[in-house]
Amino acid sequence: MKYYIAPSLLSADFGKLAEEVRSVEKAGADLLHVDVMDGRFVPNITVGPIVVKAIKKYASIPLDVHLMIVEPEKYIDAFAEAGADIITIHAEATSHLQRAVARIRDLGKKAGVSLNPSTPLSAVEWVMRDIDMVLVMSVNPGFGGQTFIQASLSKIERLSAQLRREKLDVDIQVDGGIKVDNVGKVASAGANVIVAGSEVFGSPDYGETIRLMRENIQAALGGQA
Ligand code: DX5
Ligand code: ZN
Repeated sequence: MKYYIAPSLLSADFGKLAEEVRSVEKAGADLLHVDVMDGRFVPNITVGPIVVKAIKKYASIPLDVHLMIVEPEKYIDAFAEAGADIITIHAEATSHLQRAVARIRDLGKKAGVSLNPSTPLSAVEWVMRDIDMVLVMSVNPGFGGQTFIQASLSKIERLSAQLRREKLDVDIQVDGGIKVDNVGKVASAGANVIVAGSEVFGSPDYGETIRLMRENIQAALGGQA
């Protein structure tokens, strides 16, 4: 299985975003995780397609855009045009999830569906063949630097078993409270796309933090990563 480290720009210095993008790429990031918040689905407001387009200019690795907005279907085209490579929407935020993920794929992008900590896995069951990734939120979305919710581990394990049973090629992303110290646990549970915001951007050496995360994933999997 391939493991991806996706630093979340939410904890980067927005005053020098281009520089941060370059540094984290040089540090070995596989994806750039961009958190889009609308002040309605979550209590915080961040960036829109204009900023995603600006980031795209400086990025050479794929942009993993996490939409924490209501009615995401209204903005899928705009984010695709801005340069998103993966577009993840929340199951709780739309009444027509299948239509929305199908649109993402029609635009040639990878489609992800995210679940809040209290949302059951069944919310994604009937679109599993229409998507590339399930994002298991391990904090309530809205802010960086929150504490990992332990129940997420069982949720990831259960999802991973289900994907194996049904032989589905769908990535499991985990987002919220991921640190060098707990990344091994989420990888053993079955997550392979790891988002980390404050742990990477709050560290003095992004490269060293990413390296330690990879090392702990490897150790947890007994060298299979
Ligand atoms: C939270 C965002 C996360 C956030 C994670 O709503 O979706 O991507 O940046 O930050 P950390 O890794 O600091 O919990
Ligand atoms: Zn996120």
